[in-house]
Amino acid sequence: MERYVNYINGEWVPSESGEFIKNTNPVNGEVLGEVTSSTVKDVDRAVQAAKGAQKKWALVPAPERADVLYDVANLLKERKEQLAQVLTKEMGKVIAEARGEVQEAIDMAFYMAGEGRRMFGETVPSELRDKFAMSVRVPVGVAGLITPWNFPIAIASWKSLPALVAGNAVVWKPASETPFLAAEFVKIYEEAGLPKGLVNLVYGSGSVVGNAIVEHPEIDLVSFTGSNEVGAKINGRAGELLKRTSLEMGGKNAVTVLEDADLDLAADGIVWSAFGTSGQRCTACSRVIVQESVKAALEQKVLEKMKTLKLGDGLDESVDVGPVINRSALEKIHEYVKIGKEEGAKLLAGGDIATENGLDKGNFYQPTLFTDVKSDMRIGQEEIFGPVVSFIPVKDLDEAIEVNNSVKFGLSSSIFTADVNKVFRAMRDFDTGIVYVNAGTTGAEIHLPFGGTKGTGNGHRDSGVASLDVFTEWKSVYVDYSGKIQRAQIDNY
Ligand code: UN1
Repeated sequence: MERYVNYINGEWVPSESGEFIKNTNPVNGEVLGEVTSSTVKDVDRAVQAAKGAQKKWALVPAPERADVLYDVANLLKERKEQLAQVLTKEMGKVIAEARGEVQEAIDMAFYMAGEGRRMFGETVPSELRDKFAMSVRVPVGVAGLITPWNFPIAIASWKSLPALVAGNAVVWKPASETPFLAAEFVKIYEEAGLPKGLVNLVYGSGSVVGNAIVEHPEIDLVSFTGSNEVGAKINGRAGELLKRTSLEMGGKNAVTVLEDADLDLAADGIVWSAFGTSGQRCTACSRVIVQESVKAALEQKVLEKMKTLKLGDGLDESVDVGPVINRSALEKIHEYVKIGKEEGAKLLAGGDIATENGLDKGNFYQPTLFTDVKSDMRIGQEEIFGPVVSFIPVKDLDEAIEVNNSVKFGLSSSIFTADVNKVFRAMRDFDTGIVYVNAGTTGAEIHLPFGGTKGTGNGHRDSGVASLDVFTEWKSVYVDYSGKIQRAQIDNY
């Protein structure tokens, strides 16, 4: 059986615990291998390695740091297919989507490598004569990264690449469900010649390893993507410790469809963003806010398209929807479907665990559509993280905006309409970090900020230049070449 161990200070080492956790394929429960289960001590060793390495790395000129990232980018590109296969096997998303996800990591690597020659600060005029003023970005130190299983390489790339190009070192705890891909990514860092100690991989549970990352006094910041429950705990404790956090959490994203929309296009957008990745994207469409006059027609179009979705092993190119991540996710989704029925929502399709043609060996849920959902029902408010979509009828755009914003999350939203005035109103009034026009709720590109308002985050963003704000401190520098002590705000007024 394949055994995966930690990567600390440039060496592959098992945890001192001697314990291993099994990694299974969600398609059929097959055991793929096992992974070392780490302790607080392992985290401490990783942090010590990171600390030592970071001091030297911070002094390497950023364009030279970026050279390593270009090599990482090229290796990711070379191994795209192999990485996608590992991703599909341990996480379940269909192979085309797995390739797309690896592409996000490739894009991020090239993009962040470019930052090595930018990482702009400001130069501004001083209010005093013979004085020069500027701001520069400096690394924060050691970054603790806690990443999820739904985008195991994309999100790890969004966090580790800006951290490294900015001169930080990383201690990374990947999700227990996707350990192999994490090892493949670290191998690429190793082969690209990243100095040892800069990326440390520590496998284990959130309660032990995640917690130790948050608690460790020499970890300067924690970047987390995952559930609101865990994020809130991290933020609470990190707040007490005066530690910086960047949190990316839940979503309850909606597609709004107005009566003048191209309904075929809207139906395509809904099906893709609701059932892609089996509904397990933070950005997945989980609500369709539809103008009453076109509700029946849109339902029909979506139902027709849903009928064509093929469930199965994501390695089979003809499959559209893979399994969900594990048994407890499957049960949680089914529980929400029961809740929806009890709340009086009308079930139009799906609604059960899929068992036909051998699907019972894996964690498959039927693509599910509820209609006549009221916005305040639990299925209209809470994150389900599975292939379940709820149609909520509204009378006009004003009500659509109200419903869109009525949830505690604010990640992604979308509107289908041909009316440019309505488009601009939605762009302004949808209270989400990402807004799409005439597209579904998924498909964020790596060079723009990724994140959300309200309960989705804490004001930070992954991706884009914005991610550098997480991994750098600002330093303002004043150089006085007047040869005298000039008193700011006094001598000049
Ligand atoms: C996530 O679900 O956390 O926009 C990430 C998208 C992808 C990233 C999703 N590019 O759906």
